[in-house]
Amino acid sequence: ISKIAVLTSGGDAPGMNAAIRSVVRTCAYHNVECIGVYRGYQGMIENDFKEMGPRSVKDIINKGGTVLKSARSKEFMTVEGRKQAYENLKNQGVQALVVIGGDGSFTGAEIFNKEFGIPVMGIPGTIDNDIYGTSHTLGYDTALNTVVEAIDKIRDTASSHNRLFFVEVMGRDAGHIALNTGIGAGAEEILIPEEDLGLERLLDSLKRSKESGKSSSIVVVAEGDKIGKNVFELKEYVEENMPEYDVRVSVLGHMQRGGSPSCFDRVLASRLGVKAVESILEGKTNYMVGLLNDKVCLTPLEQAIKGSSEIDKELLRVSDIMTI
Ligand code: F6P
Repeated sequence: ISKIAVLTSGGDAPGMNAAIRSVVRTCAYHNVECIGVYRGYQGMIENDFKEMGPRSVKDIINKGGTVLKSARSKEFMTVEGRKQAYENLKNQGVQALVVIGGDGSFTGAEIFNKEFGIPVMGIPGTIDNDIYGTSHTLGYDTALNTVVEAIDKIRDTASSHNRLFFVEVMGRDAGHIALNTGIGAGAEEILIPEEDLGLERLLDSLKRSKESGKSSSIVVVAEGDKIGKNVFELKEYVEENMPEYDVRVSVLGHMQRGGSPSCFDRVLASRLGVKAVESILEGKTNYMVGLLNDKVCLTPLEQAIKGSSEIDKELLRVSDIMTI
């Protein structure tokens, strides 16, 4: 293999730049050419490439977002789109592809490999941490720290005004961010997609908290929680049932995806990038590189896509105990 392409796809995540840097420099270390693809699969279809060398990735290890930009390409979901992408890669002399993204991006990579035989390697990058085969995805640790910092600030004002806050955090299908930041920021309750806490229990818990002398409370709600009401509906529901509460809502939104990556994410990105390129050079294909028990390892892409990253139920118990 003499030329590898790298792209970022799907929702961006802090640490993606550090991973691009690692892929580019590992290629250079092994005398392999590296080409960056702008805007994920869409850029592959539209011939949006850039030759990259060790110096072209300087000063990006500390930057959030992705210098290659990201997209969710509808065209790549069509056979014609993928064929065009393959022709463009072939014209560039590209012989393997590193995809930094989430499970949607990996599904695209798998199909692309099946159709055209080009070796593919995935690096998990998403703040949601919802990928099987790695304890941490790139950006997750940074997002946790961003969210905890934001909730700490909300706590200040909640406490000054004796208010209850519903704080919505990201995570369409996974409660990792909500669960961990909920514990880290001392939330009263945590609502996640994996468990239906039930509205009754929420009210009970808020009642108990009032009775035990707490004057303000924070409830962390994952975007995709199962309770069946969004944060604004939850506010109304609590106001109707517990008028003694002065309720506010804060939706943290996309600020959770930005910012300088934590040291953990930078080191993880560096390790995963090295493993991705060296695995390709060893002749491996259709794997995702990940971290399990602090060891960098490979998981077949198919498993990474199909498997689910379970939440640790013990954390729910810890949270319960902490809110006594
Ligand atoms: O998958 C990452 C993520 O940030 C989710 O937590 C969130 O639901 C989604 O992306 C938002 O996507 P978009 O930026 O396209 O609105």
